[in-house]
Amino acid sequence: MDNTYFIETWGCQMNDLDSQRLSGALKLRGYRRVEDEREAGLILLNTCSIREKSEHKVFSRLGELRELKRERGELQIGVCGCVAQQEGERIRERAPWVDFVMGPGNVGYLDEVLSGAKRVAVDFPEDRRYDFLALDRPSATKAQVTIMEGCNKNCTFCIVPTTRGREVSRPFDDVLAEVRASGRVEIELLGQTVNAYRCPVSGRDFGALLAAVAEIDGVARLRFMTSHPAEVNDSMIAAMRDHANISRYLHLPVQSGSSKILRRMKRLYTREKYVETIARIREAIPEIHFSTDVIVGFPGETEEDFEQSLSLVEEIRYGSMFAFKYSPRPGTPSLKLGPPVDDAIASARLTRLFELHERIKRERLESYRGRVLPVLVEGPSRNDPAMFAGRTDDNFVVNFVAGRPPMLGSMLGVRIDQAQHHTLRGEAVA
Ligand code: 5AD
Repeated sequence: MDNTYFIETWGCQMNDLDSQRLSGALKLRGYRRVEDEREAGLILLNTCSIREKSEHKVFSRLGELRELKRERGELQIGVCGCVAQQEGERIRERAPWVDFVMGPGNVGYLDEVLSGAKRVAVDFPEDRRYDFLALDRPSATKAQVTIMEGCNKNCTFCIVPTTRGREVSRPFDDVLAEVRASGRVEIELLGQTVNAYRCPVSGRDFGALLAAVAEIDGVARLRFMTSHPAEVNDSMIAAMRDHANISRYLHLPVQSGSSKILRRMKRLYTREKYVETIARIREAIPEIHFSTDVIVGFPGETEEDFEQSLSLVEEIRYGSMFAFKYSPRPGTPSLKLGPPVDDAIASARLTRLFELHERIKRERLESYRGRVLPVLVEGPSRNDPAMFAGRTDDNFVVNFVAGRPPMLGSMLGVRIDQAQHHTLRGEAVA
């Protein structure tokens, strides 16, 4: 049991990736991963603090783990991720059975916390050790690759600048080397603001990086998350236009459709500017789809402001939308912008927004019926082992039948015959 570990991960892709790094580092040190926490000698909770709800979950999980530790005695518990960064020492005050607390800046410093040399590691070391060959990637077809960490945008609602620190881009050549070494056909470049990327060595920008990764042999599909609307530029658009293996799909969080609220959020664009950016991208790449994030109930959001979010979602016709009630985060500037919108009103707005988007998404999925879409094969279907599963360019899951088993990671044409709730169904074409 000594050398076994269990990791639980909440939150964004960056956290997923940090867990892949931790897991890989542990395996290199002779640990074995277990899927049942009761069999683990080391339990890591990789936490998220983007909204209050995620944070509460951590402490209730820690309550459960206290019992486990009481029964077992020898059990090491580590809290990692953004709650670790945000709460630091306070976690061990509130939950003394926690052995160490390690923020996202310290993922490369696992030895120091495991040995007990560091109990609370929440600084951002200058030298961000990054052993990418030791990543434990869960997918045989897809590799997530960090290109930058942290964020300099300081949106007034957001905790990320506190939990993940200032923006640091990785050298261009390191990113390319990692993509090549991954051997995966699908690459997802990750960062809080990927399109603010700047190579610290050569100064090359995100568009240049996109183009270079797209041109690597064997990269069948290239995605990236998350882009900031104010950082979209011609070089990024041109790279997308000129490389057919870059997804015709862009996640471009708008947060609100009201210019007044956008200003209060410090998003650095107006509604008009955002719509113009979308138009510019569509002009270069007509078949592109967008997805977005929206916050409802931000302090000062009136019914009219909210209706502008509705009308924007209607206007852009996003394929996917993630929407959240505003959640006040410790130390963020929005705390000084007055009280959040009444909770019942915010909930009702969220429901209306989801209803609107459901209809738009339905229409989109329905429009795929009868069409042949390129699908990247990910393996057998989860619900029906006689079927296969893959994803469209705009990231919808497709379950399909095929005359002969397709190769994992291959790109196939699938004729869509059914649009289910969130997924598509179809048949591979020759
Ligand atoms: N409250 C609600 N939603 C938030 N997000 C970020 N911070 C907050 C907050 N304080 C949402 C944004 C962001 C997504 C990852 O989470 O929409 O794009």
